[in-house]
Amino acid sequence: MKLVEKPKKLKLAVMASGRGSNFDAIYQAIKRGDLNAEIIVLISDKAEALALKKAEKYNISALHINPKDYSTKEEYEQELVKVITGYDVDLVVLAGYMRLIGSAFLQHFKHQVVNIHPALLPSFTGLHAQRQALEYGVKYTGCTVHFVDEGMDTGPIIMQSVVAVYDDDDETALTERILNEEHQIYWQALQLFAEGRLYIKGRQVIIK
Ligand code: GRF
Repeated sequence: MKLVEKPKKLKLAVMASGRGSNFDAIYQAIKRGDLNAEIIVLISDKAEALALKKAEKYNISALHINPKDYSTKEEYEQELVKVITGYDVDLVVLAGYMRLIGSAFLQHFKHQVVNIHPALLPSFTGLHAQRQALEYGVKYTGCTVHFVDEGMDTGPIIMQSVVAVYDDDDETALTERILNEEHQIYWQALQLFAEGRLYIKGRQVIIK
């Protein structure tokens, strides 16, 4: 199945819980003309997220939707679906969004939700992926752009980049090196959507 019929300027909703460096990297790629897209809205579950401030600075609609204002996760996600649907976006881009997405949301946006994870999936899912890699003693780790499904970092893989682990690495140094790669591959993966080059066959994402 082809994911985006024809090449187009992608309309993106970005969701972030924290500092938003991936959001920033995507924004800069658009500004440079490397990514044919527009960030229509930035949504955060955290009022204090730096990502919200960055979006305001860039004149992008910035919304804080507080999960605590809803009695269940389903209600909170229904609100997210309502808001995002209103913006008519092509893709929902998770960029450091620290919540597991539920099925109601995913059913609504099938093959339209992507995430970046700081490890070579399926290794080191969940939190502190860089620490997990160091503790395991792998020689290479990296980052993965993938579709989001109902599992924790288990959706079909779109793009990966490998980062070497050095003998004297600590978590900070490794995290920074991986982050540099994240800032490269996320917009590149999104550009493949914009160019209409992505197909999905079961778990396999094919780039034409
Ligand atoms: C990144 O390491 C990303 O891989 C993970 O959360 C972190 C977000 O960082 N999902 P930032 O907010 O984009 O700076």
